[in-house]
Amino acid sequence: MGAPRPQKQTGWQDLVKSQIRRRYDYLCNADDFPPEPVARALKGGYDPDALSTLPEPVLAAYSGSGNPLADIDLSLFQNIADLGCGAGIDALLAAAAMPQSGQLIAIDFSPAMIARLTDAHVAMGRPYNIHPIVADIEALPLPNASVDLVIANASFNLAVAPALALAQAYRILTSGGRLVAADFIRTGPLPAEAAINPMAWSASIGGVMKENELTKALTSAGFKDIAITRHRNAPPVVAVQISASKPKISV
Ligand SMILES: C[S@@+](CC[C@H](N)C(=O)[O-])C[C@H]1O[C@@H](n2cnc3c(N)ncnc32)[C@H](O)[C@@H]1O
Repeated sequence: MGAPRPQKQTGWQDLVKSQIRRRYDYLCNADDFPPEPVARALKGGYDPDALSTLPEPVLAAYSGSGNPLADIDLSLFQNIADLGCGAGIDALLAAAAMPQSGQLIAIDFSPAMIARLTDAHVAMGRPYNIHPIVADIEALPLPNASVDLVIANASFNLAVAPALALAQAYRILTSGGRLVAADFIRTGPLPAEAAINPMAWSASIGGVMKENELTKALTSAGFKDIAITRHRNAPPVVAVQISASKPKISV
């Protein structure tokens, strides 16, 4: 299936996207993340021992909706991309659990987030093959079929064109590759403000799809074996775990 090519975005999409980027840059530069990140991460399903290995600035910036790594054996993957990695909670945990020779590309369009991840990795003594990149998940600067696992935590819902972000995830996956993500869905209409206010969109709920819309978007991107599980109320949305795979192409 041919992936949609990145297209010129509309004025509204440009406005929302730059607002989101500015918001995450601000949160990072001002250290103004929501309180109690560790309690939130534990509620999201992370292992306390794994969390205790992470530098404090990474934990402080945790902004996910769950733990995308909860149900996956990371020792099976050699090349991983974390889309919308933030300060790198999942990138660092995945890198620690994947084979030592593995490569992990961590992508976020907020330069401040990428700088926080880079600084944390340096402070840890650069133990992993992590490559942090400032880029847009709707226009990934990665070759086709270059990673065998895509992970994402609360970033697809922020994409102004989620179908494009999912299609890009599909494009960079190898045949038989996997996608695991934590994200949000909605069960009813969002507060009206979320649809018209770029600030509200950037607060993580503007692009949230209903479960059937999300399944359809994943299917349209080409994914198979789609499972949406671990539903957890997070009013006005619902946190979920997404798993899907790129079909194996036999040659
Ligand atoms: C809710 S935060 C989650 C960060 C991280 N995954 C975590 O769990 O802590 C979403 C992240 O996605 C990034 N993001 C949103 N839209 C993006 C886009 N179009 N391209 C790249 N990054 C994006 C934001 O800058 C932010 O760091």
